[in-house]
Amino acid sequence: MKTILVTGGAGFIGSNFVKLMLNKHPDYKIINVDALTYAGNLENLVDIKDNKNYEFIKADIRDRAKIEEIFAENDIMFVVNFAAESHVDRSIEEPEVFLTTNILGTQVLLDTAKKYWKINPTDKYCKKYKEGVKFLQVSTDEVYGALGDTGMFVETMPLKPNSPYSASKASADLIVRAYNETFCLPVNITRCSNNYGPYQFPEKLIPLMINNCTNEKDLPVYGDGMQIRDWLHVSDHCNAIDVVLQKGKDGEVYNIGGNNEKANIEIVNLLIKSLGKSTDLIKYVKDRPGHDRRYAIDNTKITTELGWEPAYTFEEGMAETIEWYIANKEWMENVLSGEYSSYYEKMYL
Ligand code: NAD
Ligand code: DAU
Repeated sequence: MKTILVTGGAGFIGSNFVKLMLNKHPDYKIINVDALTYAGNLENLVDIKDNKNYEFIKADIRDRAKIEEIFAENDIMFVVNFAAESHVDRSIEEPEVFLTTNILGTQVLLDTAKKYWKINPTDKYCKKYKEGVKFLQVSTDEVYGALGDTGMFVETMPLKPNSPYSASKASADLIVRAYNETFCLPVNITRCSNNYGPYQFPEKLIPLMINNCTNEKDLPVYGDGMQIRDWLHVSDHCNAIDVVLQKGKDGEVYNIGGNNEKANIEIVNLLIKSLGKSTDLIKYVKDRPGHDRRYAIDNTKITTELGWEPAYTFEEGMAETIEWYIANKEWMENVLSGEYSSYYEKMYL
């Protein structure tokens, strides 16, 4: 049985990944380490909480002693690092936690993996690791910065992050790369475009707009609403991560995306139409500072070299997602109580 340490597995993508992996690989054990910040929610995992191949440990990836204890007690083969502060607007308000979690937390995980995976633990310069181990860093297309009207992100582009969030993710990518170059630690980095799907925290565009539409509240569109994002269903992202885990070549970076470029206002109009509401709800608000205009992923490398393809069309994925949020009002209500309501008031009211 292979043991995977998944960090941030109580968040949006991490919880979808944990469930997908338990279902797809009954011979894997998943250890989910999550600090349960405002974005971590164990309700996302209720259906698998008693699975014998699953264990949850509440811990912070910056806590070196705890992370070492977890490695000492378990024969971990793969680390998949989702744990992060993930919301751009919050990073503009309070950048520091983005730097400590996203950069230093990643470095704690790398150090510990290096220590426990070395073949000869007493040899400081040992560059040989246990057979088959891998550290997979879940990164983002935002590390490339913003595109103009044309072009796409390719893996060889220089990193030009624009927000404190994306700068912290880019820094983490560079430290992961350095551990591969300097210590030969087996790593991959994935850079995915915007995800949508079930269990996304409603500070992000799609669940926020669905919730506001449902409750006939204003739909806050930043700037002119013509910024473009390249959308991918979360289960396609999770499957791509599994493919990279199994087949990714050592040290390589893989972009993940499904060629679904949409302007924000198109998304908002689609949601309004699907939910039978009026465009009068749209309220153009002050733009996000440093707002990236356009993202678009060139997925040639992962599709041609590793054979991954998205399963969802955008239309199917969005229809299913809207249905999920309508059917899971209680999940939304529980998430909306507490810390989120004061964040929402501060940002929008
Ligand atoms: P999320 O905010 O929903 O979840 C993040 C999780 O990490 C939460 O469960 C939180 O409790 C946990 N966490 C935060 N700080 C921690 C710490 N110090 N120690 C342990 N756990 C901690 O985020 P998400 O949208 O699921 O994103 C997951 C990862 O995927 C992130 O690394 C993000 O950069 C990346 N990513 C996200 C998208 C997207 O569209 N959402 C796209 C590409 C890449
Ligand atoms: O591209 C991948 C990234 O996608 C991930 O790395 C991030 O973790 C994830 O949060 C996401 O970042 P974005 O900033 O693109 O996502 P967000 O949902 O915050 O915003 C999507 C777009 O919608 C963006 O152009 C800003 C706009 N927006 C967002 C909100 C919350 C609005 O116009 N109004 C809003 O209220």
